[in-house]
Amino acid sequence: MAEAATVARTVAPAAGDGLDERGVEFLRLTGVHAFYGESHILHGVDLTVHRGEVVTLLGRNGAGRTTTLKAILGLVGRRTGSIMINGRESVAMAPYEIARLGIGYCPEERGIFASLSCEENLLLPPVVGSGGMPLDEIYAMFPNLRERRASQGTRLSGGEQQMLAVARILRTGAKLLLLDEISEGLAPVIVAKLAATIRTLKAKGYTIVMVEQNFRFAAPLADRFYVMEHGRIVEGFAAGELGAKMGMLHDYLGV
Ligand SMILES: Nc1ncnc2c1ncn2[C@@H]1O[C@H](COP(=O)(O)OP(=O)(O)OP(=O)(O)O)[C@@H](O)[C@H]1O
Ligand SMILES: [Mg+2]
Repeated sequence: MAEAATVARTVAPAAGDGLDERGVEFLRLTGVHAFYGESHILHGVDLTVHRGEVVTLLGRNGAGRTTTLKAILGLVGRRTGSIMINGRESVAMAPYEIARLGIGYCPEERGIFASLSCEENLLLPPVVGSGGMPLDEIYAMFPNLRERRASQGTRLSGGEQQMLAVARILRTGAKLLLLDEISEGLAPVIVAKLAATIRTLKAKGYTIVMVEQNFRFAAPLADRFYVMEHGRIVEGFAAGELGAKMGMLHDYLGV
């Protein structure tokens, strides 16, 4: 393990910033198992995400969707199998090395620093990719954040905090974004803004993996869907097959 981590640290940074070569594989999980202590949570997850795609991970509460994102980032107790990111095997890497492969993670709990201003929160992240999104471009995408740039983190509304959490990972230069339930608990008008943001990011060439409970939010955005149950992927299909899969989704998710 220590030896593998050393090897990982000495290899050169990944070539390309992930915005070119749409359609090329960006992320591939093969037979991934994940554990929290003695708890065996993921039981052989296989999934693939291509550059420029929006992929949604659906499933009931406790299905293992958050754990899948955390396993990709190395934030679980232990993980086995293969996790290829931008053509590199990352399963033996430490979380900071994985982040440098160009992955941004927006956790469910958002992680906004309450004592810092909106803009200080934006300026905080370390750059992991080839150049983060400039503040001007971020403020063009999120005009509310420009208005609230001097406001303290705690003074922001839930919707503003969620916008900030998404905007902040763009500062890092990450081109593969893992978003955990970003629409949760937000008013419909804010959810609509987030949907527009996802479309803009896709148009800019970002690759997005969204964990969602809100099927109405995810359905029109995703190019492909995976359904999880009990730590396994039980279905994977493209947006064009959605109509034919509604019965199955109803059985698995109650949608
Ligand atoms: N830190 C942890 N230690 C032990 N078990 C955990 C831990 N975090 C999650 N689990 C368990 O792992 C399983 C999968 O949880 P996970 O958070 O991945 O689910 P999820 O699909 O994101 O659902 P939701 O977000 O609705 O809870 C659940 O049974 C959960 O209780
Ligand atoms: Mg979750």
